[in-house]
Amino acid sequence: MDMQVAFAGLDLKNPIMTASGTFGYGTEFMPYGKLEELGAIVVKGISLAPRKGNPQPRITETACGMLNAIGLQNIGVEAFLRDKLPQLPWRTTPVIVNLYAQAVEEFAELTDRLATAKGVAGLEVNISCPNVREGGVQFGQDPVLAARVTEAVKKRAGALPVMVKLSPNVTDVTVMARAVADGGADCISCINTLTGMAVDIHSRRPCLANVVGGLSGPAIKPVALRMVHQVVRAVDVPVVGLGGISSAEDVLEFLLVGAHAVQLGTANFVRPDTAFKLVDEVRRLAEEMGISAWEDFRGTLELP
Ligand SMILES: Cc1cc2nc3c(=O)[nH]c(=O)nc-3n(C[C@H](O)[C@H](O)[C@H](O)COP(=O)(O)O)c2cc1C
Repeated sequence: MDMQVAFAGLDLKNPIMTASGTFGYGTEFMPYGKLEELGAIVVKGISLAPRKGNPQPRITETACGMLNAIGLQNIGVEAFLRDKLPQLPWRTTPVIVNLYAQAVEEFAELTDRLATAKGVAGLEVNISCPNVREGGVQFGQDPVLAARVTEAVKKRAGALPVMVKLSPNVTDVTVMARAVADGGADCISCINTLTGMAVDIHSRRPCLANVVGGLSGPAIKPVALRMVHQVVRAVDVPVVGLGGISSAEDVLEFLLVGAHAVQLGTANFVRPDTAFKLVDEVRRLAEEMGISAWEDFRGTLELP
């Protein structure tokens, strides 16, 4: 089985990528497998300046997923490029940097810095963050702002492919997908976390210091699959699916509805070697099913 997949200027050995914020800077996972064997590594959300993130507690488990309110803690773009990126196998495995900023101009500045950096293969724009200037609206919930961020990043990205990551916290995800596609996105990743909450009846307090957080893991897979299905039909740009994927079957479900590749998030916390194992497991399952190339399988879902 030829596991390769190429889309939006990215050449991946296989369709398994790691999801931002769940795979650290990549280096943390070196003891658990060979990073070179992954399709691509998407690193933690990076901002211009370092960020401390939200107060503790900022992670809590729920019945079939987790809630996090990390608040995009990261070391900032300069330290990432200097200390982390050189340790990654960027010559053989695409390293995609997830961008976090609070204003359009900040996204543009961050893109300028990354577009000229050796070893960055692509950008993933996280639009699930509040736009401080516009009164706390999320870029990911306003199609006009989402298109503006996409245009600003695309204009400065040079040859780097730009992937825009959609938030599920919207009424109609296809409106956002069309907005970022019109803004010039080379591909779309879908979905980020769903806003959720957990409370403790004994202390009578919220489980997270931030009160609300992002729900991820198996609980969100049906929502993610539905949104990928909708987005694939709404736009012509390739889609990367994620949300609750933990098995080879899950990966094939997202490819069946039309995703070109997938990302693995919360599963990395459950077992840190999951992404590495999935590469072999997906190959085995695809071969068992008689699939010889992804083009023969991708998007072949038969609708009633
Ligand atoms: C602890 C944690 C941190 C995250 N940080 C980021 C981030 O920095 N940028 C981003 O775009 N998504 C971030 N996400 C969202 C994930 O990349 C992913 O979209 C989401 O968890 C759904 O996938 P999953 O169910 O496989 O985890 C984070 C998720 C978790 C659980």
